[in-house]
Amino acid sequence: MKTLAWILFAFFAVLIGIYPLFYVAIDMSQGLLASKAPDLRQSFAWQTGFYVHIFGGSIALLAGWSQFSRRFRNKNLPLHKLLGKVYLTAVMLSGTAGLYIAFYATGGLASVLGFSGLAISWLFTTVRAYASIRGGNVDQHQHWMIRSYALCFAAVTLRIWLPLFQFVFAMDFIFAYRIIAWMCWVPNLVVAELIVRNLRSPKARIPAHG
Ligand code: HEM
Repeated sequence: MKTLAWILFAFFAVLIGIYPLFYVAIDMSQGLLASKAPDLRQSFAWQTGFYVHIFGGSIALLAGWSQFSRRFRNKNLPLHKLLGKVYLTAVMLSGTAGLYIAFYATGGLASVLGFSGLAISWLFTTVRAYASIRGGNVDQHQHWMIRSYALCFAAVTLRIWLPLFQFVFAMDFIFAYRIIAWMCWVPNLVVAELIVRNLRSPKARIPAHG
């Protein structure tokens, strides 16, 4: 079970991590961009925010997943540190840009608030994780990174919920999108809290795979 969960976790992180490349192949009239007003689509500020967000997010997803393997960390500490810095930089860029483009999210206020909440939480948990390790607190660093990556994983859960809501529950796209702007990250954070609580319990000091 644990191995299967680990394989699925890595598989989805990599699959959605490379998904933004799709935007290199298409023109501005496809994908999410097709639903945007022409003025916004052509705005330099929004376009910059959008591309910084999706490629920064891609790097964060790809850099993050292997960091939770204890075996990987123990064997490659310098690489763990390097990937950690790459993740931190990618989150700062993608999260800040995500907060900016969140104000223009499809679906209006419910989506704007959902995605802004996600962006702020992602930036906050990642900064806390970095501050903890700078302060030498490894346990706290691990706990905040679990929260941070659970939020990063919203990119994956959003793309699982969306087709489910649209095609299985036959929901209208905009209605589903407003709900998923929250559903993509709040449950992830609850799962992260449960994992952290489990790690804190004296019985199970040891984490994720490995
Ligand atoms: C965790 C914090 C994140 C926040 C706050 C966030 C926020 C957003 C927002 C507001 C949009 C535009 C939605 C709209 O205009 O309706 C968006 C789109 C997008 N985001 Fe993120 N996102 C996050 C994480 C990620 C990550 C980690 C990736 C990496 C794959 C990613 C990739 C994308 C892509 C590719 C789109 C374009 C929409 C699509 O094709 O599905 N995001 N994001």
